[in-house]
Amino acid sequence: MHAGHEHRGQFSSKLGFIFAAAGSAIGLGNIWRFPYITGQNGGAAFVVIYLLAVALICLPYLFGELALGRRTQRNPVGAIQAIRPNSPWVGVGALGVITGFFILSYYGVIAGWTFGYIFKTLFHNTVPFESFIANPWLAVPLLGLFLLFTVLVVYGGIQNGIERWSKILMPLLLFLILLLIVRSVTLPGASKGLVFYLQPDFSKINGQVILAALGQAFFSLSLGMGAMVTYGSYLSKKDNMVTSGVSVAIFDTSIALLAGLMIFPALFALGEAPDAGPKLVFITLPKIFAQLPFGTIIGAAFFLLLSIAALTSTISLLEVAVSYLVDEKRKPRKIAVWMVGGATFLLGVPSALSQGAVASLSELSFFKGKSFLDLMDFIWGNVSLALGALMLSLFIGWVWGIDRALEEINEGSGFMNRSLPGLSITYGKLWGIFIKYITPIIIAVVLLNVFQSF
Ligand code: PHE
Repeated sequence: MHAGHEHRGQFSSKLGFIFAAAGSAIGLGNIWRFPYITGQNGGAAFVVIYLLAVALICLPYLFGELALGRRTQRNPVGAIQAIRPNSPWVGVGALGVITGFFILSYYGVIAGWTFGYIFKTLFHNTVPFESFIANPWLAVPLLGLFLLFTVLVVYGGIQNGIERWSKILMPLLLFLILLLIVRSVTLPGASKGLVFYLQPDFSKINGQVILAALGQAFFSLSLGMGAMVTYGSYLSKKDNMVTSGVSVAIFDTSIALLAGLMIFPALFALGEAPDAGPKLVFITLPKIFAQLPFGTIIGAAFFLLLSIAALTSTISLLEVAVSYLVDEKRKPRKIAVWMVGGATFLLGVPSALSQGAVASLSELSFFKGKSFLDLMDFIWGNVSLALGALMLSLFIGWVWGIDRALEEINEGSGFMNRSLPGLSITYGKLWGIFIKYITPIIIAVVLLNVFQSF
């Protein structure tokens, strides 16, 4: 018998689940990744595709991951194993575990910069961002430190405590974002940024842009690698998974949209290029802080809160691999945590060194001169999540079966039995069509399109 609910515990309330899942979803993906990917992919038109991807692909698919997790009470590998033992499908779960591990390796690098920026801001250190991240004596220890925080939280089982804290701290982060938006949009020249961010130019859309939007939507909602399967396993049968899932998606998407509104007007007002890539947010934000009274305190507080948001995401990334080792490989939890944490650190070192410290990692000739970190982010944070979601949809739709999945979703809800307004088709039936056909076909077309252009 696998250790299911006994050792993992359940959230005491539906709100507990929402905080944990929103904690996983809201992180650097919203504030660091969303603006830079939007900037690289042409602005407003990308945002439109992103919103469509969230509503039409990610949300239906999210219910699938949650249902799979709550039904089987397992990590992604165990969940598939429980439904179709020893089949090649188990490899899909394994891909998820590996993807989480790789994402954590470079996510930890960015989280380390964020943490370092608390002190850089506080002590008025004037080293430019480029030199800061190119310094191996900063980048590598900061990665190690951030992973150590993550390990200690998961190790000590104080995750719940952190999530409770973040329900006080995240509204504070939201408040600071709103404040920065006010400053950003009132800077002279900000309107060009608003146009870039809000006025779609659809001629900018191509296959690459659509993959970037889809990948970003999966990344931001922590989908495609089983994190939400794992969190679904913590939901109680009484919880309404439809309203919980919708709340998480709305929170997450709102924070991303607001982050864009904070960055782009300031960016254009200050005459920076929107396609600067991963460094975008780190270059723009300090310039907004400099324009504010109490800018030092506000800036340091912002990076502190962002570090905590990143921590609730790294916890979930580590948790997927740890719960796999605990459930399936019978590793004691404490050993699994240190094993995964240590391996992630080693794997993260090349990413940490790829921002100028080591030239051969910083400019990959086969990847348009971009860095090793960019390469990791593209492969694992984009393609692999999309591929994982494609295969998990097929698994849920065709192997586990729509009826069984719907039965699980409906437990505590009943929403899927309702009919669409004015139509005789139920939401459940429509959901089944999405999971079986529409979602996998769209993801496959987008992926094929991109691979052809390589
Ligand atoms: N969703 C997180 C963020 O936006 C990152 C993440 C991706 C976490 C995948 C877990 C799984 O920062």
